[in-house]
Order: sequence, then structure tokens, then C-alpha cells
Amino acid sequence: AKAAARFLWEEGDVARTMPKRTRSAHKGTHGKLLIVGGSKAMSGAVTMAARAALRGGAGLVTMAVPETVYEVVASRVPEAMCRLWPAEDGAFAGAADWDGLDIDAMAIGPGMGRTDGVRRLVSELVRQPVPLVLDADALFFWDDYAEQVRGRSAPTVITPHPGEMARIVHRSVRDVEHDRFGVSKRLAIEYGVYVVLKGPYTIVATPDGAQYVNATGNPALAKGGSGDVLTGIMAAFLLQHKEVQPAVSNAVFVHGKAADWLVQHGHSPWDVLASDVIDALPAVLASLT
Ligand code: APR
Ligand code: MG
Repeated sequence: AKAAARFLWEEGDVARTMPKRTRSAHKGTHGKLLIVGGSKAMSGAVTMAARAALRGGAGLVTMAVPETVYEVVASRVPEAMCRLWPAEDGAFAGAADWDGLDIDAMAIGPGMGRTDGVRRLVSELVRQPVPLVLDADALFFWDDYAEQVRGRSAPTVITPHPGEMARIVHRSVRDVEHDRFGVSKRLAIEYGVYVVLKGPYTIVATPDGAQYVNATGNPALAKGGSGDVLTGIMAAFLLQHKEVQPAVSNAVFVHGKAADWLVQHGHSPWDVLASDVIDALPAVLASLT
């Protein structure tokens, strides 16, 4: 068998592959992103993903949320647009009207809930022929749409933490953690997806079997909301990079680097909020470009 291709994705790789913003840029140049998420119990996840995407350079961000949380979500991110989706018990009630929706990429999952309506909605959304980030509650229903993902023509990125990965591959968390390289690589090859297996030393596995390890980040990120911030940065970078793997690895690097910057600038690993990570993105991005 061929030796496994594993690489450490370092600052030099990021600096080399980060896209430059040209002088003639307008908001359409940098892409239109749709973030689908939110539920009565978790209305903050989608707004954090949206703010992170905007800080990450997305041109236009629209949040699609169930109507029960529309007012609060819309008022929290003035720079983003908001679409309301039919709700049932505070969560998505399934299929939605796609007419007139013009998007270049989509992120699905932050704080969506795990109702049957969400199950139906996610299974329908993965049919859209745009680059896709699947995270959090969207991953809960992996078995329902995995075969459709295999057939997608546009890139698919999934961002499971070890618990979500365990559910996807029908193994224990312990099994996943004991074989992070093997599990992520097999899944990426089998479904033709980019797998981001999160945690310290996050692994990015590509459909061709290569793997890229990230070394930024620290325990300040072990707090609710960190994953939503990564999803937003990831989607924004997918819109702006020509190639998928550098986009994905750069997002993971920058997310971790923002947390590292915070603990080097007056924060402790205890106090950092996910919103602080978003607000540290300017310092990190400015140092890279
Ligand atoms: N060192 C480096 N990075 C870390 C560390 C650490 N010690 N701890 C966490 N991280 C990073 C991970 O690599 C990942 O990028 O922080 C992020 C955490 O993402 P998630 O595990 O998705 O955490 P969170 O955003 O809190 O989401 C938790 O997600 O799947 C849902 O329902 C689940 O409510 C749960 C929610
Ligand atoms: Mg998460």
C-alpha cells in the first residue's frame, strides 16, 4: 500500500495560499453565503457563524432561521440578511421555498435542533449544487443523506467533533480518538468529502486520502460556540479560495490562531468567549496578509 500522505499545515502554507483582495473587489466578488441554523433553544449559534463569516471576508451573508427566532437573530447581526423558514415547536418544520435564492455556498447546522423537520430540511438542502459545510445538528442526520452526499458535484466539508464523528461512523468516541487518522481518512475517501475531525491537532482529510494537521488553538476553545465560529470562517474561506483543501486548512489555522492571540493578549484560557474569537480575527488576518 502507498504510504499515507500526512502534512503539518503551517503559517507559511497559510500565508502562501490566502487569497488577496483585489482593488476592484465588490461584495459579489467575495461570494454570497447562506447559513441555515438556529432554534428556540440555540439562537446564538447561527449569529456567531454569520459574524465569523463576515469577519472572514464573505461578501454577503444571509441567515435562514425558523420563524420563532427570526426577530432576535435578525437584530443581532446588522450586517447580515435574514430569511424566515416555517417552524414547528421552535425548530425548522422541513422543506422551504427556494425560489429566487441566489447563493454561492451554504453552511448548515449551527443550533438547528434535531427534529424530524430538521431531518427533512437537511436531506433536501444537500441536493443544492453549491459548496457545502455541514456541522453540528446537521451531522446528527448523516445516515439519512450520506448517499446523496456521495453523489454531490460541488465540494462537501463536514466538521465533526469526536462525538459527532463517532455517531457518523457507528463507533465509540474512544475508538475514534484512538484512530483519528484512520477514521477521518476512510470517511473522506468513502464519501468524497473533506473531513475536519476537530479537537487539539484538528485533522483535515481530503477525498484523495491526504491529511493535513493543524497545530494552532488551545483549551480556550473548549467552550460552547467555538465550533459555530469555525463553521462561519470555513464557509467564508470556501467562497474566496480557488481550492478546497487550502480553504479548509486555513480556516482551521486562523480559528486556532485567534484563540492563541487572545491568550497572548490579556485573556486566560478560562475567560475567552466564542465572540472574542470572532473579534480576534482582525489581528490574525492582518498578520497574514
Ligand atoms: N485545543 C485546541 N482546539 C480546541 C480545543 C483544545 N483543547 N478544544 C476545542 N477546540 C476547538 C475544536 O478543534 C473545534 O474547532 O474548538 C472547536 C470546538 O468545536 P465543537 O466541538 O463543535 O464545540 P461547540 O461549538 O461548543 O459545539 C458544541 O456542537 O455538535 C454540537 O450539540 C453539540 O452542543 C454541542 C455543540
Ligand atoms: Mg459544534
